[in-house]
Order: sequence, then C-alpha cells, then structure tokens
Amino acid sequence: MTDLDAVLANAGPTGLKERIAAELAAVRERSLAYTDADDDMLVRQHSPLMSPLVWDLAHVGNYEELWVLREVGGIEPLRPEIDHLYDAFKHPRKDRPSLPLLGPAEARKYISGVRGRVLDVLDQVDLAAPDPLRSGGYVFGLVLQHEHQHDETMLATLQLSRRPGLVRDGELPPGRPAAEPEVHIPAGVFTMGTDTVAWAYDNERPAHRIYLPGYWIDRRPVTNVAYLEFVEDGGYRDPRWWLPQGWEWAERNGVEAPLYWTRDGDTWWRVRFGREEPVPLDEPVQHVSWYEADAYARWAGKRLPTEAEWEKACGGRTYPWGEADPGHLGRWANLGHRAARPAPAGAFPDGASPYGVEQLIGDVWEWTDSWFQPYPGYRCFPYEEYSKVFFGETYRVLRGGSWATHPSAVRTTFRNWDYPIRRQIFAGFRCARSEE
Ligand SMILES: [Fe+2]
Repeated sequence: MTDLDAVLANAGPTGLKERIAAELAAVRERSLAYTDADDDMLVRQHSPLMSPLVWDLAHVGNYEELWVLREVGGIEPLRPEIDHLYDAFKHPRKDRPSLPLLGPAEARKYISGVRGRVLDVLDQVDLAAPDPLRSGGYVFGLVLQHEHQHDETMLATLQLSRRPGLVRDGELPPGRPAAEPEVHIPAGVFTMGTDTVAWAYDNERPAHRIYLPGYWIDRRPVTNVAYLEFVEDGGYRDPRWWLPQGWEWAERNGVEAPLYWTRDGDTWWRVRFGREEPVPLDEPVQHVSWYEADAYARWAGKRLPTEAEWEKACGGRTYPWGEADPGHLGRWANLGHRAARPAPAGAFPDGASPYGVEQLIGDVWEWTDSWFQPYPGYRCFPYEEYSKVFFGETYRVLRGGSWATHPSAVRTTFRNWDYPIRRQIFAGFRCARSEE
C-alpha cells in the first residue's frame, strides 16, 4: 500500500482532499516554472516532435476541465470553442504551432480559472462514492499524473531548444562501484500489475500471475562509460548488432552516438539544457532509442529484459525499496527533478529491490523488449485514448521513470511506451540474459 492508499484507509476523506489540494498546487507550480520564459520561447516549435510549450500549458488545463469540471462536476464548458485545439488526437504535434492557440497570458488565465473551479469540485465531491471516477479521488489522480507527464514532456522540449538558463540543476549523491554487475533472479511465479494501487492506470491492471524461467539482470542501468565501449568498438558501423529496421534508421539519420553527444578528439561532449559538458562516465546513458539499446545488448552478448522480467526484479512491491512514498526523503531514487540529470551508478543503495537490483525507479526510463500490449483481463477505463488505441506491435514499453518524472507519476507497475526510434525522451536501459 502506498502512502496515498494509507491516507485513503486511515485519514478519511478530509485528509485525502488536503493531500490532493497540496499535490494540485505543487504540480501547477512546476508547470508554471517550466513556462517561465519569454513569449517567443513559448509559442515557437523547437522540434517537429514536440508541441509549443504554450500548447502543453493550456492542454493540461483543458484536460482538467474535461475530466474534473464536466465529467464529475457537471459544469458547462468554459471555452467550448477551444476544445478541439487541445485534443491531442485532432492535431498532430507538428501542426500545433499553426493553430489559433491561446497566447501565453491567455493560457495562464484560462488554466487558473479552471483550477479555481476544480478546487470547488474537490471541496464538494464525495470521495467515498462508488463511481470509479470519484472513488478514492481517482479523477484527481488522473489529472495530477497527466500534468506531471506533460511537465516531463516540457523538459524534453526545453532540452531540444538548447536554450541555456531555463532549467535548474541540483545536487545528487555520489556513485559507488558495484560488487557484482549482474543479479540472478530465480525461476518462479510472480504477480505482475496491480489491483490495489489507488491511482494506477487501466493498462497496469489487473494483477495476474506469471511464471518466468530464471534469468540474470544488470544490477544498474548501462552507464556512459560502458556505452562508449560499444561506440568505440564500431558498434554503430556493424550491422551484426542491429535489427534491420534499426540499422536502416541509424544509416538514414547518420546516428553514431546518443542524441546530444559530439566528439572532440578523444573527448565526448554533450549538450544538457543549453550547456556543453564532457559526458560524465558514471551516469546511466540517456537519449538512446530502443534500436540503439537493443543493438548494444546484442553486442554485449545479452538482450533487453522483457517488461515482466523488469517488474519481477523489483520484488513485488509498489517501489523496489518497499511501500514508502519516494516523495518525502529522496533517499531511494532520483525523481522529481532534484537535479537535471540521472544520478551516477550506485547512488541509491537504499533504493535497491529485495534482489539487490538498483536504480530501477528514477534516473532514466528503461527500454524493455516488450511491445505495449494489454494484460489478460484488461478493461478500458476511463477512456480508450489513454491506453487502448496504443496497444499492438508499434510501441515498446519503458519502465521506471526518469529523473524528470514526479514521484506521484511512477511505481513498479507503471508502464510508459514510445516508438522504437525516439531519443528525445529521458530513456536509457539495462540488459538481461537467460540462464544457460
Ligand atoms: Fe495530454
């Protein structure tokens, strides 16, 4: 049970409402911090992969209006004429700059007007009602996680912009050498997914039992120094390591190192939020596509873990270290933008799973070998466009969250997904191998 579930069970509806109000305030502070920039920065499209920042800002308010005000509060649309502009399924990201979007000042005014009414709905709603949107405050968990996810997207946009001075950095604990680089997970049945985490998405449900043969998994994510060996060994020039589609993608796009990396003589540099710095060797590699992760794993004589293997390595808890919410002390994981980068390998010994696998949560999203598919017994809730329309053999699953992911928007059952060519997300990986 998470802290939130404990609040639900013990503190009664008033305690839960206070927590929701505090989390709503915190996420909005975050969104406003990432859009505290001049208008040109906010309305410009920094990459065809991304929306202008001002679109994300108004979109989170519009989503909150649809779900909290209209669905739960029964309130008439505030600005029905703008709904279609912020419907992610009506206009692809590349077309969004040419839409008649709300400007930065208007967007801030709109989302703050929505938020005022959301707090009125929160005040009046019965969180013990049987309706699944109201029960346990699910609808508030939905909009909170959604806004944090867009905040992470905004960070990816800010990184793509290469503009310095907009994203704060911070301190992280030092790394430690690893005793054994791999951990053995014995054969056996484990429970995948959840029926009990209060704000879990439909795609994390239902909990189901799965048998896995024994396997080995890397204790920590693959670091820059390990990845550099692959680069220096000509990994990007040897088709033996690549799936044909991945090879073709890398050739066509001239990919020969992680995104944002450049070589100067013997030194590799990277751009991080507009500043150049030498690639830090002990950090988990990030900004690699699934194809690159898969090629590295083959070169290393291994493979990517399936998402079931990744989740089993967490040890069957809400977080690898147990049930304690990662939001409070930060002892366990690098989440919630403490610093604007992954932590060095070994920085969070207290966050290890019962098997001794480290840094599963936070630092970098981890690519897995699995397609994004429904679990047996999946039931769509509350709408098809959250998960259902993405199921199939198009998207690969990522697990564990990154340094940019908020603690409220990740857990061991949480599933993210993306195209195997994507590299602007804060993604890395670890490897696995089957028992001999
Ligand atoms: Fe969205």
